Amino acid sequence: MTPTATRRRYLMCRPTHFAVTYRINPWMDPSAPYDNALAVSQWENLRQTFLDLGHTVDLIDPLPGLPDMVFAANGATVVDGKVLAVQFRDAERADEGPAYAAWFAANGFEVHESKYTNEGEGDILLAGDVLLAGTGFRTSHAAHAQTQEVFGRPVITLQLVDPAYYHLDTALCVLDKDNVAYLPSAFSAGSQAVLRQLFPNAVIATDEDAAVLGLNAVSDGRTVVLPVQATALNAALRERGYETVGVDVSELRKAGGGPKCCTLEVRG
Ligand code: ARG
Repeated sequence: MTPTATRRRYLMCRPTHFAVTYRINPWMDPSAPYDNALAVSQWENLRQTFLDLGHTVDLIDPLPGLPDMVFAANGATVVDGKVLAVQFRDAERADEGPAYAAWFAANGFEVHESKYTNEGEGDILLAGDVLLAGTGFRTSHAAHAQTQEVFGRPVITLQLVDPAYYHLDTALCVLDKDNVAYLPSAFSAGSQAVLRQLFPNAVIATDEDAAVLGLNAVSDGRTVVLPVQATALNAALRERGYETVGVDVSELRKAGGGPKCCTLEVRG
């Protein structure tokens, strides 16, 4: 079977104010140097990659004082034209929630307010007809129940256990409507069993792939845009018939993010 692509609409936020000034995940070291100009050029390259693949990219204005706002995946969950807003665990990111909600309201979407800690599509991933939802570090279990109510789709809770893989999209990538790639050790034993049952043919990532945030990848069903450093995952995906495009977002990785974190799919 040849994987087929569908055109996507993405929302992104230029890392104009990107910085690593606080530490809310193990990747972040506020004492280490970072290069804002390099972050911007790596991000521009990611955006151009999506445009070259035929996708649409909308932009939200970056706000000063919100260095993580580049990670648009955390801005909302968007399925069937409905938007569930977010509520961040950490005060440092709290103001991003209303900014993303305002963008969706201004663009004609029905926006539901979040009642619980919910970091959007960092932790909630549409896989075929169901939503996979991570918990353990950020998004609360209560938010999974609200997600199910808002979208009327089954929500499958997955327990994250490794602080390095604190959002579901750092440990699992949806490749197409039937399959995913993931790092088993990032999940509890019970959640690993659920993943084996749901996705018996999943691509299993190596520790090395995950350690360069290789699973933080964006697939349109055919082409997977992933960190160029994730060489084994790249080969495994090609073996399965996917196209791949490697991108270097090493500067953004200093905040614990990769290509998928920078990308929020807007599903009309
Ligand atoms: N520094 C950000 C945080 O810890 C990174 C967010 C990455 N986003 C993602 N979708 N995994 O919240």
